[in-house]
Amino acid sequence: MTAQLINGNELSTQLRADVARRAAALKVKGITPGLAVVLVGDNPASQVYVRNKVKACADSGLHSVMEKHPADMSEAALLALVEKLNNDPTIHGILVQLPLPVHMDAQKVIEAIAPEKDVDGFHVASAGALMVGRPGFWPCTPYGCMKMLESIGYSLKGKHAVVIGRSNIVGKPMALMLLQQNATVTICHSGTKDLKAQTLQADVIVAAVGKRNVLTADMVKPGAVVIDVGMNRNDEGKLCGDVDFDGVSKVASYITPVPGGVGPMTITMLLVNTLEAAERV
Ligand code: GUN
Repeated sequence: MTAQLINGNELSTQLRADVARRAAALKVKGITPGLAVVLVGDNPASQVYVRNKVKACADSGLHSVMEKHPADMSEAALLALVEKLNNDPTIHGILVQLPLPVHMDAQKVIEAIAPEKDVDGFHVASAGALMVGRPGFWPCTPYGCMKMLESIGYSLKGKHAVVIGRSNIVGKPMALMLLQQNATVTICHSGTKDLKAQTLQADVIVAAVGKRNVLTADMVKPGAVVIDVGMNRNDEGKLCGDVDFDGVSKVASYITPVPGGVGPMTITMLLVNTLEAAERV
């Protein structure tokens, strides 16, 4: 292995310590940053994510409330809950865990969240703010990737960044953030004809597809920086990313591991967004 690891656990520890310091400073002024986490149904993965988010809040001195509701909750009842949280002064951030049950229109529910409490950054107002470079909340996963690049002192100016994946949650906002830092950005997706031809041009590659071995060593220019957003299981049931870590780490200059890379950063940036929502009040 020649690549250096960008350790998401270490960076998270540093950033969460800063969140805890700033939360303590707000408390002196009588404000405790508060996050509401809404879970509808019993998706096992969602239950784990939500538990981790609530625990992370407690560890950093943030107040959190967990709103757990059955899968047959009506959309109207969920919208009413969101409205109640919008009007609750002890709550500064609202997160509705996705996916929602199929009888609900997830985007409609997200649009019901007050943009100033949209700490997930999924509201169209947040997406629009990112697009035009105005203040607003950035989606936590790509925001965490940017912090990882910042942590190695990497300047994106004039660099070629290739994002693999075009989701609203990761790929598209990731591309906009890289663009904002003056990278030349290419977005690749399932319709891309020759992915390898694109990635071989890249100084930075962000893989966010949700499929193992999307990026292999032969697709990476020596010295490139590789960020792996994937969360998959291999044949032995072990957690792995979208990147063939063993191969790519012999070619890249920096690489993020899975686990211990982007994963912890996503929750960290949720804490940062919630704290900032409280600081903006
Ligand atoms: N489901 C998977 N990831 C996320 C996330 O970051 N936020 C929400 N709300 N739901 C998710």
